[in-house]
Order: sequence, then C-alpha cells, then structure tokens
Amino acid sequence: MGGFRVGFLLLTLNLCYLCFFSHPGLAQLSPNYYATICPNVETIVRGAVTQKSRETFNAVGGVVRILFHDCFVEGCDASVLIASTPSNAAEKDHPDNLSLSFDGYDAVIRAKAAVDADPQCTGKVSCADILVMAARDAIALAGGPTYAVELGRLDGLSSTASSVNGKLPGPAFDLDQLTSIFQANGLSVPDLIALSAAHSVGVGHCSKFSNRLYNFSPGSPVDPTLNANYAAQLMNSCPLNANTDGTVLLDPVTPGSFDNQYYKNLQGGMGLFSSDQVLFSDIRSRPIVDSWAQSSLAFQQAFVDAITKLGRVGVKTGLLGNIRKDCAVLN
Ligand code: HEM
Repeated sequence: MGGFRVGFLLLTLNLCYLCFFSHPGLAQLSPNYYATICPNVETIVRGAVTQKSRETFNAVGGVVRILFHDCFVEGCDASVLIASTPSNAAEKDHPDNLSLSFDGYDAVIRAKAAVDADPQCTGKVSCADILVMAARDAIALAGGPTYAVELGRLDGLSSTASSVNGKLPGPAFDLDQLTSIFQANGLSVPDLIALSAAHSVGVGHCSKFSNRLYNFSPGSPVDPTLNANYAAQLMNSCPLNANTDGTVLLDPVTPGSFDNQYYKNLQGGMGLFSSDQVLFSDIRSRPIVDSWAQSSLAFQQAFVDAITKLGRVGVKTGLLGNIRKDCAVLN
C-alpha cells in the first residue's frame, strides 16, 4: 500500500514536472516577485528610464516597441536584446527588427547597469523583467496609464534571426492578418486594438507607408482611406524617390502623449500605417475604435489589460532560462 502511494506520488510529480516544462507560458508571475530579492528594483529602473527619456524622448517609443517585438518572438524573454556574433545572426538583425530604436535599447542597458550596481540586486533581476518595467515606466512618462507589472520572467537561452520569420505583423496587414498573428499569442481583437495605441508615440519611416501615398492601386495612387490634408503633409515629408528614408511622427496631433488621440486620428483618416487605419475602416473593429476615441478611461483600462497579457506570452522559468549578466550577451 505504502509502495503504491510512493509510486503514485512519483508519477504525479513526474507528470507535474512535464506539464511545468511543456507550458512555460503558464509560469507564475507576481507583482511582488522581487520584494525580498531586490526591493528597490522598480525605483531603480524608473530612475534610469526617466533619465534616459529626459535626454531623448525617442527612448519612450523605442522601449515600448522593443517589448512588443521581444514578446512576439520566443516569448517575453529578452531574446531581442542579444547581439549577433560571428557564428549567430540574432533576432535583432532580422529585417523586421532593424529599425528598433538605439535609444530604446540603451534605456534597458542603463536600467540593467543601475540595478546591478545595487549590491542587493546584482545578478538577480532578469533583462526580460527589466524590459517590462522599462516599457511601463516609459508609457507613464508620456502621460499614459500607470499600472503594476507582473514579474518573475527568466531570460531566454537563444536568439536567432530565423525565429523572427512570420512572427511580427507588417504595416500593410489587414484585420484578418492582424487578428491571426495576435491570436497566435493569446491576444484578442480588443487587445490588438488597445495595444495598437502604442502608435500614439514614436516615429515611422517613409518606406513603411509610402505605398499609400504613391502607388496604392491602379485606379487610386493615394489610399482613399487617408485624409487628403494628411496625405499632402506626408508627401511633403516623404517625397517620391527621395534618397533618404525619412521619419514622421506616428501621432501628428499629440506626439508627446501616450493617449487615446490615436483613435481620434483613425476616425479622421490619420492612421499612418494601413494596419492602423484598417482598425477604423473595417466595420468589425470600428465600434471599439469609436468607443475608445470617446472614453480615455475605457481605453486606459483596456490597454493595461492587454499589455499585462502581452507580458505573459511565452514566459520562461526553471531550466528554460537564466538571468543574464549582460542583456546583449548569452551567459
Ligand atoms: C498591430 C500591428 C503593428 C504593426 C503592423 C506595427 C508596425 C510598426 C511599424 C512599421 C513601425 C515603424 C517602424 C519604423 O519605420 O521604424 C512601428 C513603430 C512603433 N510601434 Fe508598432 N506595429 C504594430 C503594433 C505595435 C504594438 C502592439 C506596439 C506596442 C505595444 C507597437 C509599438 C510601436 C512603437 C512605440 C513604435 C515607434 C517606435 C519608435 O519611435 O522607435 N506597435 N510599428
């Protein structure tokens, strides 16, 4: 009888062991994860991100986009921060990641250095968690919603450019394509619409939307869903056949605020990418755009829910990760 009990217990433990490692995304995260390990971590990260953002506001959009690109490829494990080596092309060097912001990376690297400079914290806080905190702080610095972050992620053990293929949305995606890529990460259409409001800060390159200005379709060179005045402004900033790839503000109305002006812009035909404007032109998503254009509070609540869900994607624990010494180099 005793042997049976022990056997049953071992079998159960084995099964749990398997389920634990085969569902890393179900790892337990907690807002208090570092409470005893590194109690000042949030203050330290906020200090570094505030300092960097005062030096250049580019860091704000930069960090938020880096978090998104990290989580959609191999989960939120800081794999996007790894630098390539002669024997390995890392995620960072995939074409979809080449325009991630230097200042965004720098904010995370500085935050990691500041955390490790606290003797209580050295070597104890993952780069994946620092990135999540830094994005939260950047959003707050731009006047966006404030929220508690869940923590306890480990850093991933690999980063390859090839793993990025097909994992990130493109600026010409329609609603079905956007929906399916977000669904693959456990995120709903409302989550997609909420997270897209990150395009309320930061910049985009002309090459990412110039098809909407000059060669949209045979009958209509300019995308008819673009506001005519806005299209003219964009043509001015992004002339045809220019020899440099310029940038424009993603939100031309309130570029310094992380707010629901994004949705008002969509209502006015001023979404920069097709993937933005389609959220209004497609009647399936328009009601949500309209309601968040009207209610800043409803938008903020939805955004906090969605970015919290984003932070749970593919989280690594146990043997599947570690805490990197240098966020850009595998240990
Ligand atoms: C819905 C699908 C999305 C598409 C197709 C998309 C596409 C893009 C593109 C093409 C750019 C401009 C890149 C450049 O030209 O340098 C950009 C910028 C940006 N994206 Fe997205 N994005 C999407 C969703 C998101 C999400 C979910 C977030 C964050 C939660 C995000 C945050 C940002 C930020 C902050 C910038 C500005 C970056 C900077 O100023 O350095 N995007 N996005």
